[in-house]
Parts: sequence; structure tokens; C-alpha cells
Amino acid sequence: MNKQTIRDVDLRRKRVLMRVDFNVPLKDGAVADDTRIRAALPTIQHLLSQSASVILCSHFGRPKHGPEPEFSLQSVLPALSGLLPGRMVHFAPDCVGSAATNQVKALAAGEVLLLENTRFHAGEEKNDAGFAAQLAAHAQLYVNDAFGSAHRAHASTVGVAKLLPAVAGLLMEAELKYLGQAVLTPQHPYIAILGGAKISDKIGVIQNLLQKADKLLIGGGMANTFLRAQGLALGASLVEESALDMARSLLHTHGERILRPIDAVLGDRFGADAKVQTIAVSSGVPDGWRILDIGPETVARFGAALRGCKLVVWNGPMGVFELAPFAAGTTNVARLVADCGATSIVGGGDSVAAIHKAGLAARITHISTGGGASLEFLEGRTLPGVEALNDR
Ligand code: 3PG
Repeated sequence: MNKQTIRDVDLRRKRVLMRVDFNVPLKDGAVADDTRIRAALPTIQHLLSQSASVILCSHFGRPKHGPEPEFSLQSVLPALSGLLPGRMVHFAPDCVGSAATNQVKALAAGEVLLLENTRFHAGEEKNDAGFAAQLAAHAQLYVNDAFGSAHRAHASTVGVAKLLPAVAGLLMEAELKYLGQAVLTPQHPYIAILGGAKISDKIGVIQNLLQKADKLLIGGGMANTFLRAQGLALGASLVEESALDMARSLLHTHGERILRPIDAVLGDRFGADAKVQTIAVSSGVPDGWRILDIGPETVARFGAALRGCKLVVWNGPMGVFELAPFAAGTTNVARLVADCGATSIVGGGDSVAAIHKAGLAARITHISTGGGASLEFLEGRTLPGVEALNDR
């Protein structure tokens, strides 16, 4: 990575503005998945070990009308404090303004201040220079560890980086290292596995991966569109009609390297209590039935393709993972990825959830915290939040 990191700068007793991505899911008002908070801890701990005072800023959700209680980062405070035992973790009810400024001034070395949601100010998403200046005034150094937000050109991801020395945190560094490998210097054989509902959401990723990877294994709803493009009858399955021409052209040019499902688990409707059957896709999907998961023969086919590979990147579920009868394809692919012995990079909510649910996280080389950001990166796009950091 050609960007400076926290290891390249003097942090001792500095006031540091650290952009984190604490855009985490809540359940009943409490953090339901703290992965992104935990992922920021190595950088926070490193800064604290240098007696820096750490001012954390993040967006949270998509508030549209200024401060709204349901989007307050106060909900994240107990989880954060719990992960930093023995440290003072304060909360500022606004991210800028005189009260926040006074709290920043009162912050002692080795203490943490979590600022309220940056999106409570319209200037955040507009990357407004005045708002960025108010944020930057809190600190002497800016650290961006919010890989998940690096595709947003906002005041807290780009604007402040122009006003302060700006370096990457350890999470940002790890994300760029592993995803960078997949985009820039992949080891071969390199297998990419893509799932999810639509081709159109991931067309840029598909095109870029086809340039880099040796094979592309396709599951999930997007596979249906490829199967339909081959002329197969798919019953009531989700098919993206507007992407059929694109799918046909991809199959025409790269068909040998795009592995599609050969069997599928069908439901007679979309629900956990649906009737279920498994069929070979070549025999066609009966009327009224729909494909909701890949079948065991497809898992075996994907397993054979992964054998001996050096790098595997996986993004997107193979079926309707949230419904138990249609979760096996995604869970089995999670096992294949963990077992194949290659450098493994997994991103996307459902794929990451499948890895965790199967207890396989420790066997994956890198689990990305970025949703949209990791997809844009895999498309080969430059992320504005990364570009804004100081070069080495
Ligand atoms: C994410 O969850 O993907 C990031 O936090 C970005 O959130 P956004 O899509 O609301 O900008």
C-alpha cells in the first residue's frame, strides 16, 4: 500500500480524529453485531498505547432530517465501552460546535471521545468544506479506519483528510492489503465466487473479476439469469429480464470460465415452510416452483474448481440463506472456502454471516468489513476515502 499508516507518524500525546465505521445493526436498541467495532479496536488500542487522545467519528444509518434519536451513536456507546475495559469512553451529543469542542479540550491522554453521528449535519454528505474544517479543528492528526465508508466522498472521509495529516488505520491497511491482492497482484489459480440476487448490482465486479480470476463460480439469484440466458425453463424463479442480454454476452465470451449451478433446491413458494425438492437444472424448473438455493452437485462442482487454488474471493450468498431449508448451499460454500487451503477473502453481509454461523471465521484469511466499499474496490474503482490519505 502506498498510503501512510499510523505506523509512519508520531502519535505520542496527539489529539487524533479517527474515522470509524460504526454503522452497525441494532436489535432492541442494542448492538446486534459488533464486528465493525471490534475491527476498529487494534487501531484504537495502538493510539491509546501512545497516550493519544482518541476522538472517534462515524455515520450511523441514513438520517435525512438532522438529529433523529433512532440514529444516535449513543446506542453504540455501551458496546464500545465494554470492549475498552479500564478506559474512559465519553460521548459528545454533537460532533461539532462549542460543546463538542469543550469536550475535546477536556479529553485527557489515553481517553476516548465518541462523537455523535456525522450525518446529523447536512455538510457531511455534501463534503462541505466548513463542516470538514469544524471536524478537523478537533485534532492534530486524522486516521481513517472506516474502510466500509471509503467509497463515500463525505466530509469525514475526504474533507478532513485535506485539512490534517491523514493516515490509514490498521483495519484500513489490512483491507487494502488483502483486497488489493485480489485486484492487483492475485496468485493463481484464482477463483472468485459471486452470489446475491442480481447481476445488475454486481456487473462491474463480474467484468473486473473476469479479467483477473481464472474462474467465476456463480450462485444465488444472479445465477438464474445466466441459466435463463442458456434457454433453461426456470418456473417462478427470480430472473432479471433486463440483464439477459448482458448474461448472454458474458456466456458467449467467457462461458467456459463462468461456472453455473447444475442442480438447484426449489421451493413452491418463498418461505421457511415451503415444500422443497432438488432437481437437475437441465430438466427445467416445474411451473409454480422457484430456485432458492444451489444443490449438492453444484457444491461438489464448485469444490472441484476450488481444489488446488491459491486465492479465493467470495461475495454473496448462494441461496436464500436466511430461510433454513435454503441455507445449505451457502453454508457448504463457506466450508469449501475455509477448507481449500488458499488465501481466502470473504465480503458481503450474508457470506460473512454464514462464515460466522459455521464457526469458520478463524480459518478465513481476511473477512472484509466493507459491503459497498469492497464491491467498488473489486470493480477496480478508486475509493475516495483511500485516495484522500497521504502518500508514502
Ligand atoms: C455500509 O454499511 O456499507 C457503510 O457504512 C456505508 O453506509 P451507507 O451506504 O449508508 O453510506
